Parts: sequence; C-alpha cells; structure tokens
Amino acid sequence: MGEKSLELPEPFKIKMIEKITLHPKEKRKELIEKAGSNVFMLKAEDVFIDLLTDSGTSAMSDHQWAGMIETTQSYAGSRSYYSLKKAMKEIFGFKYLIPVHQGRAAENILFSTMIFPGCYVPNNMHFDTTEANIMRNKGIPVNLVIEDAYDSTKILPFKGNMDTEKLEHFIQDKTPEKIPLIMITITNNSVGGQPVSMRNVKEVSKIAKKHGLPFFIDACRFAENCYFIKQREEGYRNKTIKEISRELFSYADGCTFSGKKEALTNIGGMLCTNNEELYEKLRNLTIVIEGFVTYGGLACRELEAMARGLYEAIDENYQAYRHRQMEYLAKLLRSGGVPIVEPPGGHAIFIDAKKFLPHISPEQFPAQALTVQLYIESGVRVVEIGSSCFGKVDEKTGEFIPARMELMRLAIPRRTYTDNHLKYVAECLIRLYEKRKQIRGLRRVYAPKLLGHFTARFEPIN
Ligand SMILES: Cc1ncc(COP(=O)(O)O)c(C=O)c1O
Repeated sequence: MGEKSLELPEPFKIKMIEKITLHPKEKRKELIEKAGSNVFMLKAEDVFIDLLTDSGTSAMSDHQWAGMIETTQSYAGSRSYYSLKKAMKEIFGFKYLIPVHQGRAAENILFSTMIFPGCYVPNNMHFDTTEANIMRNKGIPVNLVIEDAYDSTKILPFKGNMDTEKLEHFIQDKTPEKIPLIMITITNNSVGGQPVSMRNVKEVSKIAKKHGLPFFIDACRFAENCYFIKQREEGYRNKTIKEISRELFSYADGCTFSGKKEALTNIGGMLCTNNEELYEKLRNLTIVIEGFVTYGGLACRELEAMARGLYEAIDENYQAYRHRQMEYLAKLLRSGGVPIVEPPGGHAIFIDAKKFLPHISPEQFPAQALTVQLYIESGVRVVEIGSSCFGKVDEKTGEFIPARMELMRLAIPRRTYTDNHLKYVAECLIRLYEKRKQIRGLRRVYAPKLLGHFTARFEPIN
C-alpha cells in the first residue's frame, strides 16, 4: 500500500523573536475610541497580532540580512543595483529596471508619464493606490473583473481574471485613443487575493496588441499567482515558478511591483519595461522625484534585500508552506461558520462582512465595524476593504455610493506568525461570530477624498 505523502512544515526555523503584548480589553476599547475607530491610527505596540497588511511586514532571512551588511553604499552603479537587475531579468525578464521606494512610486511615475485627462485605464481590479494615482492624474480607473468575483461563495480556480469580452467591448466603445494602457493585477487583491490564469493574461495581452495598447502587470504578488497557476492550470504542474513567471511576464510590456510583498522586504519596489522610449521618459521623472535610477529612493542594502528576497519567493517549498498556512486559517474559520471569501486567496483570508453582519447597511460600514470589534475582543488588527476603502461620494449630488463588496481582510505577513497565532485569530473571530447580533454600525465623521480610509474617523452608532 502506498503511503500518503506528508505535508511539510515551515521550511525555516526561528532565529530571533520579538515580544508582543495583549492589553486588557478595557484598554483596547479606550485606544480604538481615541483612534476614531480607525485601526490605522493605533500604535503598532498596542496591537497583539498584526494582520493589517502583508506589505513590508515579512520576516527577512539571514541571507537577506547578511547581504544588507555585505553590500556597499554608492549613489550610482552600486553592486546591489546589479544584483537586483540580475534577479529581475532572470525572474521577470524585462529589459529595463527602475528601482523605486515602493509600489505606489512606480504607479506615480508610470501614470504621470502615460495618463492624460479624461483617459481610461482598465484593470481586472485596481488597488486603492493604483486607483488614486490614476485619479490624481485626471484619468478614470475602470474595473473589468469577471462578475463571479463578486460572489464570495463561488469556487473558481481563477476568480481574479479580467472579463476579456467586457474589455474588448470597452475598448471599442471608448476607442483605443482614449486608453493609454491596460493593466492586470496579480493576484487580484481587492476581491480576495484571487489569482489570474496564464490563459487570461495571454488573452488580455492579445487584445492589447490588437489595439496597439501597452499592457502592464501590477505584479505585487506574482509568485503566489504563479504557484496557483502551477497547482490549478493545465500544462504547468511540471514547470518551476521561475519558468511560469518568465512566461507570464513575456506577455507584458512592463510591470509595477511592490517589493514589500513578494521580495520579502520591508521597503522597495520596481518599475520595469521593455520599451526603450518609455524607459527614457520614466527614467528622467524618477531622477526628479525618487533619486538616481540605480537606487530609486532606496539605500543599497534595501536593493540587496530585494534581490535576494525575489529568489526566496520563487522557492516552491516556501510557496507550498505559505499556501498551506492560508488553507489552515480558512479551514478553522469555516468550521466555526464564519463567512469567508472562497476559495482562500494567496496572501490573506477575506471575511464577507455583508454575510457576517447582515443587519448593518453599507452606509454604516459593516466591515469597518467588524474590524473595530475584532480589535476590542482580541487585540488583532486587520483591515477593511469595503465602503470605507472603495466607497465614493457623488460630487454633484453628495450621494454615497457604497463598494460592491464589504470585506474584512486578514493579511498574513510572510514567515512572521505561526499556526498557533492564526488559531488564536480564528478562535476570536468565531467567538465574535457567535455574538454578531450585538455588533453595531459606525458613522463616518471625517474622510479625505483620495485614499480616505487611511485617515478617516468614525463614531459608534448606539
Ligand atoms: C495590488 C497592489 N498594488 C499596489 C500596491 C501598492 O504598493 P505599495 O504599498 O508598496 O506602495 C499594493 C499595496 O498593498 C497592492 O496590494
């Protein structure tokens, strides 16, 4: 009889630890009230388990730390710039690299160069910073994700895909002259960290080429996406993540990348392209706003950490562990009846707050109310991805237009928390689910126009 293969544990061991403290519940209540019911306004030291974001929160490896010490610091042409270029070329395959201090800097440089007032930028789904950087340049962000992505119960292998029929119609309707570029975000963060298939990327690329439009990938979580392709798409099981990644990027003209996710670093990003003429323009703007093009607003040690982290992100044992940890948390939550977005995403578990709190209307921010309660109950910090993040106010009528989904995201920092931490999070959420009827909505009393959720203030509705 063949033995069932064993699931491997973490492919690393712990070398250094950081103490975390859980304040008493009364203190947590006081702190969140003072913070205007906005978890971004809490001090990190007042948080027990921090699942606010997977961005810049990875635990770096000894190899990364060693590289940071070994490298030398230079304004131009540093050794670590060339390490990063080599890693980018091997894993992404683009001709030109511009390092930047984080993903939104890449977005700012790209959009400030390509966008003109009144133009449209289609994407499967823009993240909030992408959306804001387009709007700041007077462009119009458009989300063309498949309709099924909005159904949190639907199980599909590639729920992050762009609807290519919608894209074709959109281009014909608006005309290619009004569209400076097409983007696709992998994985699709805003609808649950859902992956995009190779086939979909290929189709979008074909449509872009047919209309003579540049095609860029928001590559923040490229390796998690490639691992999903390996697991779920026919023809990729025997390929390495690097081979899959090279094929995926070969369909694009460039990418924006936040190294704070899958370069396993605390800061950093990249803007890449194959287009020489565009590169010249991007390079000049980078020098004005980020720094010289071989450091892009970063210390050389941070370039080195990114270069090394990129190779660690495409390690299959690491990706298997990462995806297994996500499945573990999902399984615990399901067992307690907590409504999660299915299937689990690559970097986070998303809770469907419309299902968790059906008695709270979108105008009273159910996912934000849940986020606040979870902090009070457990000291766990997560983030709202709903109407506080993506809701709009009609400038003419003042009418509030809620987001299509009210999600609460439990982003899992890479290599940082153990299964026991996640078990505690699940137990607290299940307990909260059992007394969900007692949770009340919130009134928003302040929010700036762009990226309002970072600094918004709320009051509890009694
Ligand atoms: C899909 C996506 N794009 C872009 C960004 C922006 O990256 P950064 O935070 O490094 O500016 C993020 C950050 O969370 C993201 O998730």
